[in-house]
Amino acid sequence: MSQKTILTGIRPTGNLHLGHLFGAVGNWVALQNDYETFIEIADVQALTDHFDDPEMVKENVWELALDLLAIGIDPKKANLFIQSSLSEIAELTVFYSNLVTMARLYRNPTVKTEIAQKKALFGNEGESVTYGFVGYPVSQAADITALDGDLVPVGEDQLPLIEQCREIVRKFNHIYGETLKEPEPLLSNTPRIKGLDGQAKMGKSLGNAIYLCDSEEVVQKKIMGAITDPSKIKKDDQANPDICMVYYYHKLIKNPNLKTVCEECKKGKRGCVACKKELIMRMNEFLKDFREKRKYYEEHPQEVKEILEEGTKQAKEKAKKTLRRVKDALKIDYFEEKC
Ligand code: TRP
Repeated sequence: MSQKTILTGIRPTGNLHLGHLFGAVGNWVALQNDYETFIEIADVQALTDHFDDPEMVKENVWELALDLLAIGIDPKKANLFIQSSLSEIAELTVFYSNLVTMARLYRNPTVKTEIAQKKALFGNEGESVTYGFVGYPVSQAADITALDGDLVPVGEDQLPLIEQCREIVRKFNHIYGETLKEPEPLLSNTPRIKGLDGQAKMGKSLGNAIYLCDSEEVVQKKIMGAITDPSKIKKDDQANPDICMVYYYHKLIKNPNLKTVCEECKKGKRGCVACKKELIMRMNEFLKDFREKRKYYEEHPQEVKEILEEGTKQAKEKAKKTLRRVKDALKIDYFEEKC
């Protein structure tokens, strides 16, 4: 088969926001047309961080499935699956864990940053990072290789994890013979989306995000609170749109009236409140499709369940084959059963 395979994943710890839509996740919607596509809801990985809150993870598996379908992940094109239903991934993780040193895991820049963040948040308790957490790059390597992923479309922060996966694959193939496919990252060319507060990144923990499932009222409230040029006090003061988050979002959602917004702002012909009101109207228009689709899926939970079941079934079939190859390479073939 000549068609390449895409494997990617996302942790179910919250809803999708505009940062996701304009970043890696939005890119998946386009990619599903050209590749065999597997999208993993990484609940096992979410538990490495949130083992004390399985209810939250479970709820977000569902929320994320709704969000992903509503942004246009098409079950006819992409297989949406739940990580914990593929026990093959857990088995591969165990086998791969022999090929990774602790020192290498601690050096992984993504893990390193996350551990530093935990320390900043919890002080010395951050020292008590778990084995499961430090080892999640190994389980992510299992996710990717289980599905024979050629390409992994992700944001930049995930590059060290893919590099670590490539190392595991090379080491495995070197020791046990050619068995696993070495994946490559696929970066979307959209830069990071800034938050409503002007911070460089829109993120859940930063509290500066517009969620795709936010209601009209919530969107209105958030935009009214967005940061504008601080030197503009009165409504007819001249201002600089380049440092205004409201202008930034007009641009992001491609307001056809953008030139006017920019000129009026510079000339002091447009007050911030009017400008925000226009953005609220256009943002709600922008989110209309998503809201309609999400509502449809919310009202058809059985259909969503079947989509997840079918995607998981497809993923499992592929993962079984990989696990068989891996076990053969490791000489684990004691009984007749072929997996
Ligand atoms: N680590 C990713 C995140 O934090 C989620 C993820 C899990 C993933 N498995 C993956 C990404 C496999 C790409 C490939 O969002």
